[in-house]
Amino acid sequence: MNPASPFLELQKAPRVQVSSGGVPFDLPEGANLAAALLAAGVDVFRHTPVSGAPRGPFCMMGACFDCLVEIDGVVRQACMIEVKQGLQITKPHETEAVDDQA
Ligand code: FES
Repeated sequence: MNPASPFLELQKAPRVQVSSGGVPFDLPEGANLAAALLAAGVDVFRHTPVSGAPRGPFCMMGACFDCLVEIDGVVRQACMIEVKQGLQITKPHETEAVDDQA
């Protein structure tokens, strides 16, 4: 058994560019997207549709849905996605909320 954490391998992973909310980030390729964004300082992934309360990853195993993000127009759980070059990430339904306030 290898006692070293597999997460330490991410320190050696090549960095790829992604965009979250229009802000560029260099994240380790193949890392868990939710964990990589949290490590990069992103803590609000979405706002609840009713109260607008901020939400971020909680369970990290696909159960709570607090990590929802929109990638290329599809709402997905960030904790179930690997970091890949060129991901364009926004908060789910962000443009709809702006439209509703107009
Ligand atoms: S953190 Fe709970 S579903 Fe992603």
